[in-house]
Amino acid sequence: AETGSLSIVLLGASGDLAKKKTFPALFNLYRQGFLNPDEGHIFGYARTKISDDELRNRIRGNLVPGKGASGEQLEEVSKFLQLIRYVSGSYDSEEGFQLLDKEISKHEFSKNTKEGSSRRLFYLALPPSVYPSVCKMIRNYCMNKSDLGGWTRIVVEKPFGKDLDSSEQLSAQIGELFDEQQIYRIDHYLGKELVQNLLVLRFANRFFLPLWNRDNIDNVQIVFREDFGTEGRGGYFDEYGIIRDIIQNHLLQILCLIAMEKPISLTPEHIRDEKVKVLQSVLPIEDEEVLLGQYDGYTDDPTVPDNSNTPTFATMILQIHNERWEGVPFILKAGKALNSRKAEIRIQFKTVPGDIFKCMVSDLLFSQKQGRNEIVIRLQPSEAIYMKVTVKQPGLEMSTIQSELDLSYQQRYHGVTIPEAYERLILDTIRGDQQHFVRRDELKAAWEIFTPLLHRIDNGEVKPIPYRPGSRGPEEADQLLERAGYVLTHGYSWVPPTL
Ligand code: BG6
Repeated sequence: AETGSLSIVLLGASGDLAKKKTFPALFNLYRQGFLNPDEGHIFGYARTKISDDELRNRIRGNLVPGKGASGEQLEEVSKFLQLIRYVSGSYDSEEGFQLLDKEISKHEFSKNTKEGSSRRLFYLALPPSVYPSVCKMIRNYCMNKSDLGGWTRIVVEKPFGKDLDSSEQLSAQIGELFDEQQIYRIDHYLGKELVQNLLVLRFANRFFLPLWNRDNIDNVQIVFREDFGTEGRGGYFDEYGIIRDIIQNHLLQILCLIAMEKPISLTPEHIRDEKVKVLQSVLPIEDEEVLLGQYDGYTDDPTVPDNSNTPTFATMILQIHNERWEGVPFILKAGKALNSRKAEIRIQFKTVPGDIFKCMVSDLLFSQKQGRNEIVIRLQPSEAIYMKVTVKQPGLEMSTIQSELDLSYQQRYHGVTIPEAYERLILDTIRGDQQHFVRRDELKAAWEIFTPLLHRIDNGEVKPIPYRPGSRGPEEADQLLERAGYVLTHGYSWVPPTL
């Protein structure tokens, strides 16, 4: 492993993302020994004029594990907080970034790390509008001291633009200042345990290899549901909407991992090459294959215009034009203010041909078709992989029933803590592994798919249907699903096993 000084600089340190996600992730890495206090320092930078201690106090609450925290835990938090220094300045001020560089250098040189390298990680927990100016300042004033070796990397997060043109413009601006190898575009879904499992599941199991194609799979659903609305972030959300917020990034990344060919190896470039190929094979989205919704009350938010056309719900069908997938609908579905919170992937297989069991089921079920096989990958909550199978109903009669082979993580990996997405991804950025980050051409291909549709929505040519908050979303979405060929098994539902 690399040694030498490691400086993690959190820009936007007083903001929400930093407080809720980034600092807690850094703390967890620290606790697990990944941030060696002899080498590592954390710097917060933001406009607010506060002291080191004031910043520490702001984030402490999100690190302490609730009421029953032990003395030992509290001490751990305090030690971690001592690693944090704060520098204030604006995002386009030379003095601010010069000061930041001085502060970083001071700690780099004050340690016995002169022999080692100078590693500098800049995490932009900021709105993308300031990315170009911040990147320029970093480039001009804060790069690692090259005589010591090491690196400078920057971490950015969506929204990367609003459409193809604005995204390309942003990429070009950042691309002039940093090489692609220095840029880590986060999509935090790629840090989720079960998303990371997709490659293993697909390419390390003989079970799935021969079945993973249009001959056997009828349709694929990738679903994201949240049981709360846009509370507190209506202003941001209204400019973007559910497609830009969830589908164009999180769900599309999952689609890539489900649909891509086997990469030559696990190196980041090999994996991302395959993803780009899938994205480039996606056909333009037809209006008939899209169903949008907006929950009642969404525009009550004072930061949302009354006549907003922004969807808070969308179901759409993507078609992949290649040998493996032609004709298999990939149904992407995302919604806010629904009746439940979950994210899952549902791969539904075709019906068994020449079904001999139809006449074996009891009178009541006689008219019902055999249920279809499905593989469901539940990303959250209650992480699980389960396969829906048809079995003989236990008992004297020869009747069939839908059941499942269930790998529920809580039960199978009892006591194992699943790391937070951000924890894993930040560790990757320190280690220099870009496998789970979005490459520039991948981002471009993703925008190419959605931009025409997004423009039609922005122009009011495609309109959302109202739905009741706390419902399943517009009923028309289920009809679209049925038209795509999805068959619901009546009378079956998976219940996460309890311990
Ligand atoms: C973010 C979106 O990227 O992901 C939010 O901007 C959404 O709108 C969030 O709530 C969901 O993330 P998770 O990890 O809670 O599923």
